[in-house]
Amino acid sequence: MSKIQIFDTTLRDGEQSPGVNLNKLEKLEIAKQLERFGVDRMEAGFPASSKGDFEAVKMIADTIKGTSVTGLARSVKSDIDAAWEALKGADEPCLHVFLATSPIHMTYKLKKSPDEVIDLAVNMVRYASEKFSQVQWSAEDASRSDLAFLAQIIERVIDAGATVINLPDTVGYATPDEYGKMFKYMKENVPNIDRAILSCHCHNDLGLAVANSISAVENGVKQIEGTINGIGERAGNASLEELAVAFQIRSDRYPYETNLKLSEIKRTSDLVSKLTGMQIQANKAIVGKNAFAHESGIHQDGVLKHAETYEIITPELIGLSSNVLFLGKHSGRHAFNDKVKEMGYELTDEKLKEAFEQFKLLTDRKKEVTDDDLFTILTEIQTDS
Ligand code: KIV
Ligand code: ZN
Repeated sequence: MSKIQIFDTTLRDGEQSPGVNLNKLEKLEIAKQLERFGVDRMEAGFPASSKGDFEAVKMIADTIKGTSVTGLARSVKSDIDAAWEALKGADEPCLHVFLATSPIHMTYKLKKSPDEVIDLAVNMVRYASEKFSQVQWSAEDASRSDLAFLAQIIERVIDAGATVINLPDTVGYATPDEYGKMFKYMKENVPNIDRAILSCHCHNDLGLAVANSISAVENGVKQIEGTINGIGERAGNASLEELAVAFQIRSDRYPYETNLKLSEIKRTSDLVSKLTGMQIQANKAIVGKNAFAHESGIHQDGVLKHAETYEIITPELIGLSSNVLFLGKHSGRHAFNDKVKEMGYELTDEKLKEAFEQFKLLTDRKKEVTDDDLFTILTEIQTDS
């Protein structure tokens, strides 16, 4: 098993989700839960972006001691200084500084030549290394950058003191094979690459963030960045709970170990959803309301006979107490009879048959039959002589 570090950016990239705005106490509450979840490093925010975020990062850095805390900075001295003031109380102050390396970003956004970008990156990493014990350097839009240029700038920032090299798929454009090959190229073409930890950071614009992260790990990456519930800019970031469970369930194909406590997934996901106000789509893998719910009679019957017929993950693995057998129009007799028993009714076979028929009639009118609906049906049938 090879060890993979988890870098959580729920409180930074995740908070960049449109409409999300966490105050410092909400951020601290999430930070404490991330610590319980077992992430190795958490990005608490972007200290130069606002007074509120500065205070939140400082509070987290001063309070959280079991997990390394970092903050984001642009390649600007004042950002790095603000990050230092916020993070200097952390046990191991760590900075995350970034600069774009793709032709489109360098030309239109930065308006700098490739040589100017190299100089700026090197100077900022050197400046940050004088204060911080760990400096992570990110090549923004790495996946749309020229590989030879990327190799050149990475070699230079490692020499300047970068301890982690992160190559984001900033706009979620890469395919898994392309993204993996980028890391392989760096391992083969950057002479000092082994002096730094390689990190991946994927966005989900094409729904490939988790697959791309796995491909990165298969090509030598030792740190995965992502968020809880996959929240983040636009379509979000790689979802950490999906990665963690995929590594666990498919350890035959993915021999990777993390420090995450999977039984904390549900609690962490619920807290992030509640405090950010971002509802989780019902069919979201692992943490969606339907991820452990079965509706069709065939599936319900199978699960009642042996859960593994239709469940590859036990609900308990992620901290849920049980699966859900949803009573709707596709449900069958087996789940219905179990539910009747669970509600404390003892009906003759004939009455049970009658109740099931009434339940089926109701499902044509209602999408979900609730316990109250069943209560009405069952009491009427029981009292009917
Ligand atoms: O997606 C991205 O490129 C980022 C950087 C700031 C690391 O979030
Ligand atoms: Zn990002």
